Amino acid sequence: MKFQAIKGTRDFYPETMRLRNYIIDTWRRVSLRNGFEEYDAPILENLSLFTVKSGEEIAEQLFSFTDRGGRNIAMRPELTPSLARMVGAKINALPRPIKWFAVPRLFRAERPQRGRLREFFQWNIDIVGEESIQADAECIYTLIDFLREVKLTPADIQIHIGLRPAVSAMLTQYGVAEEAMDKAFLALDKKPKIPAEAFETMMTDLGLSAEQIQNITTFMDCPSEQAIQQLASIEGIDEHAENLQRLWDILTTMGVADYIRFDFHIVRGLAYYTGVVYEALAAGERAVAGGGRYDNLLQLVGGPAAGATGFGMGDVVLGILLDEKGKLPADLQSPSLDIFVIDAGENTAEAMLTLVGTLRERGLACDYSFKRAGVGKQLKEANRRGARSVVLIEQADLDAPDSLSIKTFATGSQTSMTQSEFLSSLG
Ligand code: HAM
Repeated sequence: MKFQAIKGTRDFYPETMRLRNYIIDTWRRVSLRNGFEEYDAPILENLSLFTVKSGEEIAEQLFSFTDRGGRNIAMRPELTPSLARMVGAKINALPRPIKWFAVPRLFRAERPQRGRLREFFQWNIDIVGEESIQADAECIYTLIDFLREVKLTPADIQIHIGLRPAVSAMLTQYGVAEEAMDKAFLALDKKPKIPAEAFETMMTDLGLSAEQIQNITTFMDCPSEQAIQQLASIEGIDEHAENLQRLWDILTTMGVADYIRFDFHIVRGLAYYTGVVYEALAAGERAVAGGGRYDNLLQLVGGPAAGATGFGMGDVVLGILLDEKGKLPADLQSPSLDIFVIDAGENTAEAMLTLVGTLRERGLACDYSFKRAGVGKQLKEANRRGARSVVLIEQADLDAPDSLSIKTFATGSQTSMTQSEFLSSLG
């Protein structure tokens, strides 16, 4: 019998593992420099944690099973409900601000396609217990800080920011009934990904006339520069409009406004969002990141009322983008070692092992060839292994182990020295 990896999962051979580690290390570094602390939650949760308010789409995509005690368990498709559960259980005991990040492995039983798999990693950035738009701005800033760090420019990627309450008020104003609201949001979320006729059918099914659909489409298609003015035509959302202006002002002041634009098409597939919502989009690709404000989720999972906001970014589309735009660091192409030690003399095998041991003890990534091949072959191996420098041991006097003749060449230059000179040159 021959086994293959499960559909939509990935085997990480060392080459792809380097990319995964690069992405995750950068997520961590950027989180920490923006003042976020790391946490995690279990991979398994009660199924109902996800069905309570994540929305239809995610509920359909759950990997779930019944355990031996008859309990319904799900493999987490996202982290936000677990975060809400964890913070909700201890909110008064937690030091403020609650600026947390995590890099969970997630599972969604969706159709595998470009940028979407069944198992993936997702960076999560969230701020809980802060109602002001400054918290949303902080999350968006952190997202942009990451994009800059991996050299994705505003020409490569843009954060499209929408405002759920404005769209919901607009839908009410144009005749969508309260009970049809979730379905209308789903149709709007799908709009950019489906043909215009399919969108119209979805809206007609909600009882809307061609004129109402036209009004809604005109509102949604408004260009970014006019978005804030356009909000004046919708009743009862003044406070939200002010928030959007403040968000723009903060991100402009922090020097990252090039990366953002307003776009009311963004309503998000997950049902728990209550305020500003956004997605990081690159031309022709599925979203790289998505998030927004979710002020009711803590209560929905049995906790106290507390404002919350944040986003998730998957590793899959991001990896494709970095690769195709040539933004991956060159050193990901091969493994890396600080030093490769070559046994190049008559009786230098033991001296080589001693030196390898000493270098490793000093914390250097150091290796040598198992086969005692010719120097040329060992040099080739050093090169293939990504060694930054090579030490050739050409001569060893076993009675006086300090009298080694060593050559190092990091940049093609060669020098000879004794072992003690070499070790002190390393500092
Ligand atoms: P989401 O939009 O479902 O939001 O996912 C966020 C990101 O995770 C997507 O933009 C995408 O990069 C990645 N992603 C989602 N599904 C897949 C998949 N099947 N394969 C690969 N990548 C995927 C959430 O999950 C929210 N919980 C984010 C959030 C955090 N909101 C507030 N805080």
